[in-house]
Order: sequence, then structure tokens, then C-alpha cells
Amino acid sequence: CRMTRIIRRVRRSQFVQLVVTCFTLSLLMIYWEQLDKHLVSHMKSYTYRYLINRYNFVNNSLSISREEANNQPNYQYLINQKDKCRGQNVLLLLFIKTSPENQMRRDAIRQTWGNEKYIRTELNANVKIVYALGICKNLIQREVLQRSLIREDEKHHDLIQQDFLDTFHNLTLKLILQLKWANVYCPHAKFVMTADDDVFIHTPNLVKHLQDLDQKGVQNFWAGRVHRGAPPIRDRSSKYYVPYYMYQWPAYPDYTAGAAYVVSYDVAAKVYEASQTLNNSIYIDDVFMGICANKVGVVPQYHVYFSGEGKAPNHPCIYDKMMTSHGHTKDMHHLWKEATDPKVKSLTSGFWGKLYCRVVNIFLLCKPYYVDTYPCSAAFS
Ligand SMILES: *[C@@H]1O[C@H](CO)[C@@H](O)[C@H](O)[C@H]1NC(C)=O
Ligand SMILES: *[C@@H]1O[C@H](CO)[C@@H](O)[C@H](O)[C@H]1NC(C)=O
Ligand SMILES: *[C@@H]1O[C@H](CO)[C@@H](O)[C@H](O)[C@H]1NC(C)=O
Repeated sequence: CRMTRIIRRVRRSQFVQLVVTCFTLSLLMIYWEQLDKHLVSHMKSYTYRYLINRYNFVNNSLSISREEANNQPNYQYLINQKDKCRGQNVLLLLFIKTSPENQMRRDAIRQTWGNEKYIRTELNANVKIVYALGICKNLIQREVLQRSLIREDEKHHDLIQQDFLDTFHNLTLKLILQLKWANVYCPHAKFVMTADDDVFIHTPNLVKHLQDLDQKGVQNFWAGRVHRGAPPIRDRSSKYYVPYYMYQWPAYPDYTAGAAYVVSYDVAAKVYEASQTLNNSIYIDDVFMGICANKVGVVPQYHVYFSGEGKAPNHPCIYDKMMTSHGHTKDMHHLWKEATDPKVKSLTSGFWGKLYCRVVNIFLLCKPYYVDTYPCSAAFS
């Protein structure tokens, strides 16, 4: 009698085990696709990048002939600033990628970190900021918006518009517009930068950094948040979907997140040349930048205080070092005020200030789970 009880208990525990195993397996099967997309494709692409590490074949297969290059459409300027840079020493030419309807965002930038006059008088630097856009995709609104753009430009003289449709899938055309504009109208700028219109740039920190680099006569310089061995997204429902016929390999050449990155002028010039000899149908602009740079042998550097999609934590210890932060529309004025407050410097300088900030930044940036902000290593830089 005791024996049968033991056998029954063993059977029951086996049964429980079986159920748990089945349950786990079915969960795995349900989520395998997602796991595959997010984990396996990244591992695959990173391994690929690590093994290959040069992408000459990308250049070879995306190169176009001179004739094909000459047949590319030539978009006309509807609004332009031909004299913006003329006859001046320009430290930084800064393009903001914007759309016709985003006047509020442009105004917020003009009133805060993108105020050229403030940068000249307070930071002693000549920075030229221009807003790059296409035409409104909506036919009904286009005319009204175009008139208001012209009024806006009469007031601020800082819009550059070409006659292509301003859509997500035309971002590469917008990149080419910027490269070309720099080449024609501002070839003596020391640095060229591009940023989204919802990016916050800590101009005092950035200007100081670029002035130091300029002193050293830096060349071949390209900095931002680097994506290494990023896989093309093959999920049709994604905004970043790229079909195989457009890009057939499992990883992109290294590139910096399009939210904000900066190059020395020589890089902008070389990349512009390359962009004229490559098939530009790949519509993710930062990836196209990476393909062009790869062709001319320019490698991006990771700057830990440039953000990608994510936002910087709000803290004086972060403001002391931040370069860019993404996803700011409503809080631009508030952040500008906080980040440039004199108390930031007093709180973060000296032995105790530095020690305090080291601890705070570790606490803010080094989390046991993933947060899209600056990397943990930023706390130690
Ligand atoms: C890129 O490809 C073109 C055409 O195949 C070739 O002529 C050129 O030398 C290549 N450039 C580099 C840097 O590999
Ligand atoms: C890009 O702009 C061109 C010129 O206006 C237009 O013909 C094309 O449809 C646009 N492409 C996309 C994907 O919006
Ligand atoms: C560029 O690539 C696309 C595929 O992404 C192709 O359809 C197009 O014909 C190519 N253009 C040139 C000029 O080779």
C-alpha cells in the first residue's frame, strides 16, 4: 500500500513536469519570431560585421555610372540663404531637419539653444543654423503653408527648401540637400552637423568641444551615437523596413544615429562626392551616410554624450557633459534654462563636485535593465 502511494506521487510530479515543459515550449514557439527578430538578427549581423568589417562589396554593388548620376533629378531651391556664410569664419554649420508644419519646433530652437546671437556674444563662436525642408506632402495645405514659410523666412532668414516632397522616405534627399548646400554655400565651415528638430543640443558644451578639436586641427572626424553592425529591419510593418532588393546584406556599415551627429568639413566634402556616385534609393538617411562614408574610408567615433532615440536624464551632473538629447518638443525652454543655469557649474566642479557627479551619473546611467539614454560608460568618462 505504501509502495503504490509512492508510485502515484512520482507519477504526479512527472505529470507536472511534463505540463511545465509543454507550456514553456509553446511559449517559446509563440515568441520565437520576436526573439528571432530582436536577438538572433542582431547577433547574426554583429557577427557578420565582426567577420567582414569591410564593406567594399556594398560600394561595388551600389555604385552608379556617371551617366546614371547625371540623370538624377535636380531639385530646385524654393527658399535659399545664399549669403548666410559668405565672407565669415564659420566654426559650425548646423542643419536642422524639419518639416513645413513644424514652425513651433523651429521657434523653440531659435529661442533657446539655436540662438545664433547668443552663441556669438556669450560663447564667442560663429555658428550658422539653417532649417532644411521639402514641400508639404498634403496638396490642400501646401499653398497656405508655403506662404507662411515665406513669412517665417522673411523674419529669420534661415530656411532652405527644395521642391521634393517632405516625407519620411525622402530623408535621403534631404541629406543630399544638406551636403550639397554645405559644398556650394559654406565650404569654409570647420564642422558640419545635422540634427532632428526635436533634438536638444547643449550648444555651450558642443561649441567648447568643437573649439578644442579645431585647435588641434582635427580631420577625418565623425562623431555621434554609433550603430555597429546594425541589421536591416525586414519587418514590413516597421517604419524602418528595408526590402532585400534595396539592401541585401545582413548588416549595415557602421553609422551614427540620425538624431544628431557632427563631422569635420573634409568629411562632409568627401561624403558629398561619394553620395554622387552611389545609388541613393535607400531611404534611411543615416544608413546612406554610413554607406557613403564607408566608401571614402571614414569611420565614426562614439561620443557617449550624444543620444540616439533616447532622452538624457534630467540632472545638473548630466547637463555638465551632455551634447545632445532626443525627443524634446514641449520642454525645450525649460531644459535650456536648467541646463545653462550657473548653478550647474558650481555644483559639478571641484573635487567634491566631481566625486558627487561620478556617483550620481553611475546611479542615473548604469541600470540593471536597458534604458535608451547615454551608456553606462558615460558615467566614467
Ligand atoms: C567603388 O566601386 C566602384 C565601381 O565598382 C569602383 O570603381 C571603386 O574603385 C570602388 N571604390 C572603393 C573605395 O572601393
Ligand atoms: C520624394 O519626392 C519626390 C519629388 O517631390 C516625389 O516624386 C516622391 O514621391 C517622394 N518620395 C516619397 C517616398 O515620398
Ligand atoms: C537603385 O536601386 C534600386 C533598388 O533599390 C533600383 O530599382 C534602381 O534601378 C537603382 N538605380 C540605379 C540608377 O541604379
